[in-house]
Amino acid sequence: MRMKALAAAIAAVAVMATIGTAQAAEGMWVPQQLPEIAVPLKKAGLKLDPKQLADLTGDPMGAVVSLGGCTASFVSPQGLVVTNHHCAYGAIQLNSTPEKNLMRDGLNAATPAAELSAGPNARIYALDSIVDVSDRVKAAIAAAPDALGRTRALETIEKQLVATCETGVGYRCRLYSFAGGNTYRLFKNLEIRDVRLVYAPPGSIGNYGGEIDNWMWPRHTGDFSFYRAYVGKDGRPAAYAADNVPYQPKHWLKFADKPLGAGDFVMVAGYPGSTSRYALAEEFDNTATWAYPTIAEDYKQLVALVAAEGARDPDIAVKYASTVRGWQNALKNYDSQLAGFERTDAATIKQSDEAAVLVWLAQQGEAGKPAIAAHDQLIALGRQSRATRERDLVLAQLGNTGVIGSATTLYRTAIERAKPDAEREQGYQQRDYPTIEGGIKQMERRYVPAMDAQLQRFWLNEYIKLPAAQHVAAIDKWLDGDDAKAVDRAVERLGKSKLGDTDERMKWFAADGKAFEKSKDPALRYAVAVMPDLLRIEQEKKVRAGETLAARPLYLQAVADYKKSKGQFIYPDANSSLRITFGNVKSYTKLDGSQQQPFTKLEEVAAKATGVEPFDAPQPLLEAIAKKRYGGLADKRLRTVPVNFLSDLDITGGNSGSPVLDARGKLVGLAFDGNWESVSSNWVFDPVMTRMISVDQRYMRWIMQEVYPAPQLLKELGVSVK
Ligand code: ARG
Repeated sequence: MRMKALAAAIAAVAVMATIGTAQAAEGMWVPQQLPEIAVPLKKAGLKLDPKQLADLTGDPMGAVVSLGGCTASFVSPQGLVVTNHHCAYGAIQLNSTPEKNLMRDGLNAATPAAELSAGPNARIYALDSIVDVSDRVKAAIAAAPDALGRTRALETIEKQLVATCETGVGYRCRLYSFAGGNTYRLFKNLEIRDVRLVYAPPGSIGNYGGEIDNWMWPRHTGDFSFYRAYVGKDGRPAAYAADNVPYQPKHWLKFADKPLGAGDFVMVAGYPGSTSRYALAEEFDNTATWAYPTIAEDYKQLVALVAAEGARDPDIAVKYASTVRGWQNALKNYDSQLAGFERTDAATIKQSDEAAVLVWLAQQGEAGKPAIAAHDQLIALGRQSRATRERDLVLAQLGNTGVIGSATTLYRTAIERAKPDAEREQGYQQRDYPTIEGGIKQMERRYVPAMDAQLQRFWLNEYIKLPAAQHVAAIDKWLDGDDAKAVDRAVERLGKSKLGDTDERMKWFAADGKAFEKSKDPALRYAVAVMPDLLRIEQEKKVRAGETLAARPLYLQAVADYKKSKGQFIYPDANSSLRITFGNVKSYTKLDGSQQQPFTKLEEVAAKATGVEPFDAPQPLLEAIAKKRYGGLADKRLRTVPVNFLSDLDITGGNSGSPVLDARGKLVGLAFDGNWESVSSNWVFDPVMTRMISVDQRYMRWIMQEVYPAPQLLKELGVSVK
């Protein structure tokens, strides 16, 4: 980036300053802010009436959907959905075997019969409504007597709101907290549960450049795939069934008919997962000095473990491909964020920003005191939770491995089932059963006993390294030792568990708590032994969450008031809910001084090809390039077909697959990544370096036309084939 401490701090403040004059497109705007950003939208080049965008179920916004973790959009009246290849990767992996490897070979379903289920837990969420429920939720929290009571009150009202909202077949509702709990909104979505994979290019296109190019620019990845949404014959969402029919959305996006160029207006609507721009300096510090470096190192070791086993056993390579990719993506993200923090001196910026708020609050006299007290409280709470951070990481990760994970989930489900549905822990209610069952079933596509044993060993060895104060009594007792030998014995015991078998897991899904307590299955024995401690830890976290529920909104309101007093604009941190971001197609200059082009080109794909993965561009692609078969999709200015492009939009993980719209609301591409220099913007926005990377719709069409032909899809998309 760019400059050191003071200068960077000044620049950051300057950029935060009014959006009207801001150059960089910072801002993940909630749709309710559209009136506020109407003028800047027009200034940036939007040709549509901003009012049209405010109709979230109209054209074009109604076409944008969430996949839960990624974003996508309807692109035909027959329920065709476009997203990233890396968003469909889990579904592609579930359908792959070493012999029939769709991750490598792709899928091109020429007929509906050839489309494949994206798995029992694939979902498409189409927005129905958003209701502000802040008053009710805040009143419920305020009426609670103490911290634990506040958490419980929030859980209770959330369950009530959701239950009321979900009456009627096929809807899924979710409560979102904004700005630490200053605003609550209830989202109602149509939940489509039969999702099918229609088209995925071969990995050598969809993941061209692989981990080497991940988070990098220049980029040449065909990161797109198509799903189709299916519903029951009555038109309502239903679980996968062979005779389900395509869902017919009210709105779908049309591919752009005007060529996109440098400087053009672009906007994205999508579901960014999480940012921490309003986090405290101490929270930032914990992440920068502990969480990111620790987790990145763990993931490196796990990636190496699976790589070694996968080289020996192709079944392991296929079954763990999606898991490994998640680790790789996260660890490289953390490494790049850490580099970004150094470069921008983010720690100093965080500290001086926070100090400025506190000084301002002190100047308010009595009026500023509650927020200052809330800040102190948040600092104390952060220290409390950091006292067990190593333990909590190990417990979470161990609880994520195969048989241990299913044993704890199944036992917890049984415990909760003994209560009336409304009193069950969230995640274990009747409404969650399809997802729990889907997880039980699809584990068979992502689990190999020998690999699971290694992952258990890794995390148990991390466990025994924990400082004594962080040990969990029940685990110590279960381990019966505190050295590598004890870990080996435990792993050997767990190896005798029958939970690797799907029928066995399904049997336990129906069992009651007593049966678990009597079982001799070693994984279930672990779950039964450790559950009381896990529940105690959960309770402790709920107490802290309840304290936070009182303190965070107060402090964040003060931050907002401070910013407003300085004429700065505000938008809440990303929280997986719908956001809008806009700006322009724009290149950047790297740290080494090299001026980047905003578009990459077809010929560069060929220039990068080595024949060796991940640069193993397929022969038909290289041939088409060599013969300059542009298929009418060349850009006049570039004199060839554009591949990927840069813009200055503000996105983060979860935005993947988001449709990129031009000034008229037409589809010009799909967002799929950020550049390496941009990811630290999750904590401190960097206007100079932050760029979004998208795949150009012309490259998508070119692949479907000239390389891995899908004339039926092009026809359905309504784009002409030359
Ligand atoms: N970095 C991208 C994201 O987090 C994922 C890209 C997937 N590609 C890859 N080679 N792993 O959205």
